Amino acid sequence: MSIPQTDFLAAEPSLAELLAARPALKMHAQDGLCFENVPLNAIADAFGTPVWVYGAATLRARYGALKSAFAQAGLAPRLHYAVKANDHLAILSLLREQGAGADVVSRGEFLRAQKAGIDPKDIVFSGVGKTAEDLRAALAQNIGQINVESPAELALLSAIAAAMGKTASIVLRMNPDVDAGTHAKITTGRADNKFGVAAHEIPALYAHAATLPGIQPIGLALHIGSQILSPAPYAAAFGKAAALINHLRAAGQTVTTLDLGGGLGVGYRDEPGISLAAFAHTVRRATAELGVSLILEPGRYLAAPAGLLLTSVILEKQNGAKRFCVLDAAMNDLIRPAMYDSYHAILPVSPVDFLAETTAADIVGPVCETGDTFATGRAMPPLRPGARLAILDAGAYGAVMSSTYNARPRAAAVLIDGTPKLITPRQAIEDLWSSEIVP
Ligand code: LLP
Repeated sequence: MSIPQTDFLAAEPSLAELLAARPALKMHAQDGLCFENVPLNAIADAFGTPVWVYGAATLRARYGALKSAFAQAGLAPRLHYAVKANDHLAILSLLREQGAGADVVSRGEFLRAQKAGIDPKDIVFSGVGKTAEDLRAALAQNIGQINVESPAELALLSAIAAAMGKTASIVLRMNPDVDAGTHAKITTGRADNKFGVAAHEIPALYAHAATLPGIQPIGLALHIGSQILSPAPYAAAFGKAAALINHLRAAGQTVTTLDLGGGLGVGYRDEPGISLAAFAHTVRRATAELGVSLILEPGRYLAAPAGLLLTSVILEKQNGAKRFCVLDAAMNDLIRPAMYDSYHAILPVSPVDFLAETTAADIVGPVCETGDTFATGRAMPPLRPGARLAILDAGAYGAVMSSTYNARPRAAAVLIDGTPKLITPRQAIEDLWSSEIVP
């Protein structure tokens, strides 16, 4: 049985349609597929494959588009990039230059964000299981905001902050019980998900927080899921947050901040991503009367289209009626298709391949699992060993989720900012065991 690639679009887009939907990519008659005007062949020749290729101009353009959609709606939310989407220091530094703060979920991400020059006061700390060490490290650096997700975490934070003589600015993460209509593994705002505190429990917990030493409650947070393509679930969730803020204020609490989370979806096939104008309008409608300072935590929207995974064909094989195209990239590099049945567009780099007749092929990696499949029944030209393919929209939740499974070293990474520069050398094979101890 084939893997369902998406549940909402029927006709498979052609290679030309996939290309046309992506302005940063162009097919050049001699140079082949170019990303931000740099031939991918030149990158593969210089740095080998598989290699992550990121585009600085695309990242800046996405950040600018998000900012200006809000400006047009008369809003200026603080943009805290969700570091988990792509935590490379070069990416974080670039977004910091654009004015971004960070949303982090671990001490590692907190330190990374600072390493990239992001001021701790511009960092919010999310996550359902922060450890005492995480909280101590955050308070020691005077982090801007901690998003508290449970009574137990609140008690722990209060004890730590009081002992350190610090006051933590906190928001409570509400669980709005809204279904974001996204993949089950990345939906986070339903009552049966592990995240946040049920709305009806917030007023008592907020009042309690206001009495605790070392704690200053300043507002609410929510994050309902990821890869959300319609404003409707946001409208429902933001409406609940607004009602809760009014309720808290009526009870005498001070509420100055609303953190709306991330989740903005991108078009992985040829469909448009979420409409920024519609999203900004939704935010405005729900929050206009509240007079709160707004925070957004976008990850994928900024990073996904700004990256691709460049790979080479090892060989093609035919198993009965089935055509397989085996790549030098695998599920250890990009796990999204194996993990979420995600669709990623795949384009040949060669202009000849791009124009050739296609037949259906399963595009797979060399890892010893059937799940190591990037695409099933995908229209592809015949590909010779060494032919290059670009797996698109892999800038978010790509390299960060990679592993060394099957003793496969981590891929190199290149950032195009006018010219391509190596930002992560390919991991050396010996590094795979260099920290292992045989007693
Ligand atoms: N804020 C919080 C609290 C989050 O948990 C997340 C993502 C974000 C912001 C950023 O969401 P975004 O804007 O990127 O959708 N690995 C999955 C996605 C997991 C998202 C987890 N939380 C994937 O590859 O689709």
